[in-house]
Amino acid sequence: MTIPAPLRYAIVGTGSRAQLYIDAITGAHRDRALLVAWADTNPGRLGYHHDRLPEGIPAPHRFDPGDLATVVAEQHVDRVIVTAPDAFHAQLVATALDVGADAIVEKPLTTTEEGVRTIADAVGRTGRNFTITFNYRYSPRNSALREVIARGDIGEVTSVHFEWMLDTAHGADYFRRWHRDKSISGGLLIHKASHHFDLVNWWIDDVPTRVFASGGLRFYGRENATARGIGERPDRGTTDSPLRDAFSLDLRADDQLRGLYLDQERYDGYRRDQDVFDPGITIEDNLSLVVDYARGASMSYSLNAHSPWEGYMVSVNGTRGRAELRVVERGAVLLDEQHRVVVDPSARPDLVIDEGSRPASESLVVQRHFAAAEEIPIPAAEGGHGGGDAVLLRDVFRGVGDDPLHRAATWHDGVRAVVVGLAGNRSLRTGQAVRVADLDLGTAATSAESER
Ligand SMILES: NC(=O)c1ccc[n+]([C@@H]2O[C@H](COP(=O)([O-])OP(=O)(O)OC[C@H]3O[C@@H](n4cnc5c(N)ncnc54)[C@H](O)[C@@H]3O)[C@@H](O)[C@H]2O)c1
Repeated sequence: MTIPAPLRYAIVGTGSRAQLYIDAITGAHRDRALLVAWADTNPGRLGYHHDRLPEGIPAPHRFDPGDLATVVAEQHVDRVIVTAPDAFHAQLVATALDVGADAIVEKPLTTTEEGVRTIADAVGRTGRNFTITFNYRYSPRNSALREVIARGDIGEVTSVHFEWMLDTAHGADYFRRWHRDKSISGGLLIHKASHHFDLVNWWIDDVPTRVFASGGLRFYGRENATARGIGERPDRGTTDSPLRDAFSLDLRADDQLRGLYLDQERYDGYRRDQDVFDPGITIEDNLSLVVDYARGASMSYSLNAHSPWEGYMVSVNGTRGRAELRVVERGAVLLDEQHRVVVDPSARPDLVIDEGSRPASESLVVQRHFAAAEEIPIPAAEGGHGGGDAVLLRDVFRGVGDDPLHRAATWHDGVRAVVVGLAGNRSLRTGQAVRVADLDLGTAATSAESER
């Protein structure tokens, strides 16, 4: 058997998510991958990662993101990994494909209709393909639900009810960072929920056709704080001000936050610890959707970003019964005497069904008509995103094997996940239901075919 030569990689956007790929290339997958170049608009963050490269790994060539095309050619880059903020994905992907590299892009694919067209045109022009990394598909609990449905255990799917809770630690964080600006993240319907919409498309193997959305900023933001009588706030979390509280994130308290963001503010002025009750936040924190699918099923979906616990509940109704997946990712956000956040998964004992070492709990129950409920075992997993990250990296760096679950997502899957958010955002603006076909995004958005 011949061992393939390592592929040459470049990374664009070396913030926190990039760490996963840097670790994979310089660690578990170093026999298959070589990091030859990296770029960021903030040179300090490149320096941070440079200082932490494992011994023996040569320093990658540093470049400005605007020079991607030149660097791909000069450094003979095979694949470009895009981990920049969401609004920049489409242009970076198109540039990479146009100069003959493959691309790997973090979710979400893009934040706008224009971004989808840019990518579809680049794929059409170049014939090149790329990977979008939907890590949630790989977590065993989500794979188990896909298996249940694909096996026909609950019959033909008729409807889905899906509720996602982000807590006052993780959920609040979207309101401190670039994510709070809809023009960069597309809002949580794009940035966060594209994970969830991809899961549903994949679970039920169907294509979304129409979306009605309602929602708003009802908890975070200055207006809501004022209405609830919250007074003066510190302008950032990294402060000794007596005004700091449970929503203040002190970047000094964590080595990675300090090194990646606080120490690098002098280059671009970006503050990672803005106040969640600031004026000017343009994303929603409560969202409700009704989504129709091509084969006739519908979904009710909701997202809340200030829940006391974090996780999700999904029920899938079918012609032969029903499947229920209930996941507690974090049982509670609690505070110590200094108002620092402490997490305690056992604070919701009613929801914690696993007494073992896992920090959270999960259960998948299938109940067929006229039969007792049956708990479906979920294999244990370790690591980020319910164990999804590690398996995803194996597919990305070592190639996709024969997978009956079809977990590796195609770029069409990326489009079909993001169109629910795009149609949802349009529905929020117009107050009307929006047909996906009316977004005019071509067959990638509307057909069930998948293309690599
Ligand atoms: N799949 C997942 O579960 C998951 C988890 C976290 C983040 N992500 C995705 O990863 C991406 C990065 O998120 P993050 O949390 O690392 O954010 P981050 O803010 O930590 O990092 C983003 C980096 O991009 C740089 N940057 C800004 N503008 C740029 C540009 N025009 N060109 C190149 N670089 C630019 C920033 O300086 C920063 O270093 C986002 O698309 C996000 O949606 C995915």
